Amino acid sequence: MILPTVAADAVSQKTADSAPMVIFENVTKRYGDAAKPFTAVDGVDLTVDHGAITGIIGRSGAGKSTLVRLVNGLEKMTSGKVMVDGTDVGGLNDAGLRGLRRQVGMIFQHFNLLSSRTAFDNVALPLEIAGLDRAAIRAKVGPLLELVGLDDKAARYPSELSGGQKQRVGIARALATSPKLLLSDEATSALDPETTQSILSLLKQINAELDLTVLLITHEMEVVKAIASHVAVIDQGRIVEDGPTFDVFTAPKHETTRILLASTSGASLPEWLRSGLKAEPSAGDRILVRLTFFGATAFQPLTARLVTEIGGDVNILAGAIEEIAGEPFGTLVVAYPATPGVLDRAARFYAETGLSTEVLGYVA
Ligand SMILES: Nc1ncnc2c1ncn2[C@@H]1O[C@H](COP(=O)(O)OP(=O)(O)O)[C@@H](O)[C@H]1O
Ligand SMILES: [Mg+2]
Repeated sequence: MILPTVAADAVSQKTADSAPMVIFENVTKRYGDAAKPFTAVDGVDLTVDHGAITGIIGRSGAGKSTLVRLVNGLEKMTSGKVMVDGTDVGGLNDAGLRGLRRQVGMIFQHFNLLSSRTAFDNVALPLEIAGLDRAAIRAKVGPLLELVGLDDKAARYPSELSGGQKQRVGIARALATSPKLLLSDEATSALDPETTQSILSLLKQINAELDLTVLLITHEMEVVKAIASHVAVIDQGRIVEDGPTFDVFTAPKHETTRILLASTSGASLPEWLRSGLKAEPSAGDRILVRLTFFGATAFQPLTARLVTEIGGDVNILAGAIEEIAGEPFGTLVVAYPATPGVLDRAARFYAETGLSTEVLGYVA
């Protein structure tokens, strides 16, 4: 067990060098009164690394928005402690909270733009509130609109902009006070898949270029897979699993993670096949196996070899190569006769190639 120890040391050293941007310590948030309390966030311990894009994923009602609103003091926690870049949020007075909110930008699902203001004036708003003069505001807003690709839309009103453009205005506004942390609450949930991708690319770009830590809340696995290096899974107000996105998504430990993943995996089984699966084989049945590949280059040659080495009668039922946090990850679902000879040849092939396998069941 030498290797894991070395790896763990390397990680803890890295964290010690750069203090985390956000730390949740046993944080609980209850709504309602004492007679009918409702616990929306339940004893959360979580660390958000400086400079990273961290995703928090969970179903609707899991407590994601509540959790993220505790970070900039839009909600008051019932107990526990939230630290943002070394500041104890619970200990801030009103002036302290205003200062914190200049350091922490936020974007929303429905953009929350002022319809009576142009794109320029929406981005300018936080700067007006901060008391900057017109020249200083102009010097700041122009480059921000350029950064989000909207320099030609400065004079447009929100009603004249597409959803993606509105979110770009939202992002520019969130960046106006040069925050070190950006909170994103379902920022792409109202957008079509293509626009979602372009907004995610923009978030990735500003994360890298501005050294901006991003904490993003979503119910969509695709969003986390695309840009988050770390992910925490929340269910009924509790963090049930967290870690590097690649590890959590390729080897999910908690049932909630598996359920969230099942809806997006490119290699999930069609319903008619899943419903016909049996746990035990009968004579003449075929075995269904899910194979997992790390690295895209292995995919093609291994698929071809699998068919020849097992001996011809192999069906490929589903397959996909996905990218998780920038790393390729392939899944293949295959079926072949569950006879001793074939099973032996397959087992030898898996052992030799180091493929990771999971028996899904048997079909007649
Ligand atoms: N202001 C509030 N008062 C009472 N209950 C609330 C309030 N805000 C949220 N809740 C409840 O807390 C739970 C978590 O809500 P929320 O944090 O919005 O979840 P999510 O963002 O994951 O959908 C939900 O059951 C919701 O109804
Ligand atoms: Mg929400």
